[in-house]
Amino acid sequence: MPLVNMRDMLNHAYQHGYAVGAFDLVSLDFLEGIISAAERCDAPVILSLAESHFEYFNFEIIMSAVVTAARNTSIPVAIHLDHGESLASAVTGIRLGCNGVMIDSSSQSLTDNIQLTRSIVEMAQACGVPVEGELGYVPGIEGEDAERHPGEIAYTTVNEAKSYVEQTGVDFLAVSIGTVHGRMQGKPELDFQRLQEINEAVHIPLVIHGGTGLSDEQFKQLIERGVSKINYYTSLADAAGSRIRKNTQDSTANGYTNLTSGIKEAISTEVERCIRLWGSSGRADQLNAHCKAWKPVEHLIIYNVHGITEDETLAMIEEGKKTLGKIPGVLEVVTGHAIQDEASYRYTWLVRFCHDAVIESYKNHPLHVAFADTLFRPVAGERISIDYQTH
Ligand code: 13P
Repeated sequence: MPLVNMRDMLNHAYQHGYAVGAFDLVSLDFLEGIISAAERCDAPVILSLAESHFEYFNFEIIMSAVVTAARNTSIPVAIHLDHGESLASAVTGIRLGCNGVMIDSSSQSLTDNIQLTRSIVEMAQACGVPVEGELGYVPGIEGEDAERHPGEIAYTTVNEAKSYVEQTGVDFLAVSIGTVHGRMQGKPELDFQRLQEINEAVHIPLVIHGGTGLSDEQFKQLIERGVSKINYYTSLADAAGSRIRKNTQDSTANGYTNLTSGIKEAISTEVERCIRLWGSSGRADQLNAHCKAWKPVEHLIIYNVHGITEDETLAMIEEGKKTLGKIPGVLEVVTGHAIQDEASYRYTWLVRFCHDAVIESYKNHPLHVAFADTLFRPVAGERISIDYQTH
């Protein structure tokens, strides 16, 4: 049961006092290095993709590899959109296979942050997908340059955290208590008292961004105060960078594969260190037993049409593919027609949903209602339909 419900995963970590690593990945070396470390540790892991990194890879193409890696392993895995920039980003992330989303509206006013987060939660809930919200401001961009740290830190306050969680319904809360993204400049001072009070006020899994550069003792203190997900990236990028520098010292290493050899292993070693430190190693079986599997649900219709020509039928199908594919939680719309002339039913729709929650939200979604009422039902004749869970 490799891909699991991320809400179940982090609630387990929260209740049992450990943290799951959410490692941002920017290439297949990162993906394979992260997965192999989690496998060695027999640990759950979150494969995280940050929107600010989309300039380095094609999100859609890399997601095929991420979903395949998650399905092919036996350890519990979740796939998370990190620092999504809009509602549209969250919808795209879910369509491509993310089963957890974070939308970062933390730089906006509290009222605007609550409003945008609330709209994401409504959309994601209708897809069965949990949401991470952020309150306060952790300076920096998920990048590798300390100088890309704009702005001053804004600490999360206890009262704001409580009302933000109540008003938005987020599943996890990222807090700002002294960490920064990227390389630390100087020794980080973390406000553990504030963290403790936030934890007591909100009682949901807490998230720390900017994991790079914290000490073992700081991680321990964070986890004791409700931190159940730790976001980590720069240190992995540094491990990869050191390995490339070392490779260039070998005068016979000229080509791409020589210069990039050993990167995966270097990343994997650092991921393994973190997983063991954060207490998630050896927990794969417990989590596989505790978490619901994350499996798509399919909606299949086989049907005939009456009263329109073949060309008009094809136009109606094209319109349906375009429209229905935009509904949040729809992974794919596949259509077809019978090969044999004598078939009793001539056409098919296969709509893949990310979660069974989408059966209801899809049915009632205005795009579906409009398409079904105006284009499909008036011409659809006899038909059979079924919603089923894939195995
Ligand atoms: P670091 O790069 O400091 O590890 O932070 C990563 C992060 O918080 C991604 O969201």
